[in-house]
Amino acid sequence: MSSMPMAQDGVAAAGRGWPTRVRLAAAGAAVVLSLPPDRLPTVLHWGADPGPLDDAALAELEHAARPPLATNGVDEPAPVALLPEPWTGWTGSPGLEGHRSGRDWSPRFTPVDVVVDRRDAGGTVTVTADDAETALRLVLETELLASGLLRLRAHLTNRGSTPYAVDALRLALPVPTSADELLDLAGRWAKERVPQRRDFTVGTHLREGRHGRTGADAATLLVAGRPGFDFGHGEVWGMHVAFSGNHHVAAERTFGGERLLLGGELLLPGEIELDPGETYSSPRLYAGHGDGLDGLAARFHGHLRARPGHPRSPRPVVMNVWEAVYFDHDLDRLKELADHAADVGVERFVLDDGWFGSRRDDTAGLGDWHVSEEMWGAGRLKELVEHVKGLGMEFGLWFEPEMVNLDSELARAHPEWLLQVPGRLPVEARHQQVLDLTHPGAFDHVLTSVLAVVEDLGVDFVKWDHNRDLVDAGSTRTGRAGVHAQTLAAYALLDRVRAARPALEIESCSSGGARVDLEILERTDRVWASDCIDAHERQEIQRWTAQLLPPELVGSHVGAERAHTTGRRLDLSFRAATALFGHLGIEWDLAEAGEHERAELRAWVEYYQQVRDLLHTGTTVRRHLEGGDLWLHGAVRPDRSEALYCVTVLERHVTWPPGRVLLPGLDPARTYRVEAAGPGATSQRDPRVYPAWWQHGLRLTGATLGSVGVQVPALDPDRSALIHVEEDR
Ligand code: GLA
Repeated sequence: MSSMPMAQDGVAAAGRGWPTRVRLAAAGAAVVLSLPPDRLPTVLHWGADPGPLDDAALAELEHAARPPLATNGVDEPAPVALLPEPWTGWTGSPGLEGHRSGRDWSPRFTPVDVVVDRRDAGGTVTVTADDAETALRLVLETELLASGLLRLRAHLTNRGSTPYAVDALRLALPVPTSADELLDLAGRWAKERVPQRRDFTVGTHLREGRHGRTGADAATLLVAGRPGFDFGHGEVWGMHVAFSGNHHVAAERTFGGERLLLGGELLLPGEIELDPGETYSSPRLYAGHGDGLDGLAARFHGHLRARPGHPRSPRPVVMNVWEAVYFDHDLDRLKELADHAADVGVERFVLDDGWFGSRRDDTAGLGDWHVSEEMWGAGRLKELVEHVKGLGMEFGLWFEPEMVNLDSELARAHPEWLLQVPGRLPVEARHQQVLDLTHPGAFDHVLTSVLAVVEDLGVDFVKWDHNRDLVDAGSTRTGRAGVHAQTLAAYALLDRVRAARPALEIESCSSGGARVDLEILERTDRVWASDCIDAHERQEIQRWTAQLLPPELVGSHVGAERAHTTGRRLDLSFRAATALFGHLGIEWDLAEAGEHERAELRAWVEYYQQVRDLLHTGTTVRRHLEGGDLWLHGAVRPDRSEALYCVTVLERHVTWPPGRVLLPGLDPARTYRVEAAGPGATSQRDPRVYPAWWQHGLRLTGATLGSVGVQVPALDPDRSALIHVEEDR
């Protein structure tokens, strides 16, 4: 790693001390920045690594990028900057919108310092730029991570003597004109992360999140790519805004042919007013390039897995009792459930909502984080915890620290601690309001009471929920809109809890999967992908959650035969095979399940324990066989010595059987043993369903498996089959 501090504040005008252009490269991806002396940096190239380029080649690359004066625009056209500036003639979305009482609304930043920090893979370019007229300083950080993922962030400082209002700050990355199709995700409660596609037409495809949380409908990733791109093929470029508050991401195409991905925080009116000397920092934007959506996902997975805090211990099998008992807490019943859980191999038992204050249903008690006397008094909750731990399981507990029911001791004592606008409280959602964590008293109250319970009961795992949108979220402390400050305060609260209890694991839940982003994952260990555990729906939800997150971060539970959220009835083998490709859990009243079902479930738990290392370190592959409406997903060991694939049929198809399916990700040069896998594989004999090879396996090269393929079972809808592949040494 070499560090090249290039210039000090203010010396730039005398003679620039930094390179004119920089190429950063990592894992086959590269970004080439132009660093002009008189304007903000521009991206000359972001995508596949063109290989080493000397100064002359970089200059030629920049020269080659200059367009003709074709569109009646300004006389000196310039590529759009990382923070697009209107003074350059740019007429798309501006990077900064702000003003000083109506003045200083169109800054022109000039770099005063550039620091290039190269690493063996990737590196960082930090550009500091000032505008003396508007008295603003901008610091732009561009980092290419070892995974090949780009991470961008901006910091804006008010260096004037009067307040400066920031209305919007967006960072932009260009994509080539070949990126002619867009894909992003939509969704709703219990049906999160549904893909939608469209042409990349002129104008702006804008996805705004105004929920005060990441949102069940969050774009998650906005992807532009070569038309027809799919999981395995087609160059793609995608952007993720890592923020759990209001945010936006857009794909913008101008009449001049520029195509940009832009993102940032979505600021409410007057929300950010910088006093003299104050700095606003944007959320981090993550952007990746890849071959196919799997290639893009691999960048995100690689980045997440490289973090020092990434969960590396075997992901324990979870029993969450929510859909088994809901609010009906009873010590004997829960002890019996714990017995069944331990018996099938569960390693972490989680008591969900309903254990605290006056919480008998969702109308009361939120905010009162002390053990309910009525339900769990006289040490009964401790008795449950001891019972659970005595069975060799960890104990987990549900909290919703940012929320409060009006019918609670907390709301009665501190009505001023609720987010609100003058004269009225926000409309209720799930009978609850939001606690303004920017009040030091509110923050301390929650921190102290959550930690006291965790400490007292010996809680190993917290399911941290957040069950409503932030509506009219003003602070009584400032009188201003408060989503930005609340989001940062929630991060600070999580940071404090983790600092106090480093071994505690935390799950990010928000009415299911409404808080799934990379910033919440800096302080949590898994997400609850959805309140819908119907395996048919979960196949899709998990497939698309995987666009951002590797499976070990995605909670996926085996539910009851009849799904509570949809009423659909599904076989245990399908429910279990679906939950297998995540952080496996069970959310089902096992006392109601028969002995036969519990035995089958036990076999699946054992199988998960056997393959979780492969699943949780492997490269995610996904394919859709259009001709048969058959889905394939799997995990391939990074050294390509082993893989586990799952084929799934969700709908009946007009032609049948599905035909040969390619098994992607293997080494073409090696020979593999291919076998039917998972509990029950040996009894899969029906020749109308299972292909000839299913009983005794195959021995084929990776080249054959990847380019010729194998017949797969002609499954009925809502069934899966597992295929295990191991190198034959
Ligand atoms: C939310 C969560 C559920 C459950 C309930 C409890 O809806 O998503 O999993 O914890 O709250 O009230």
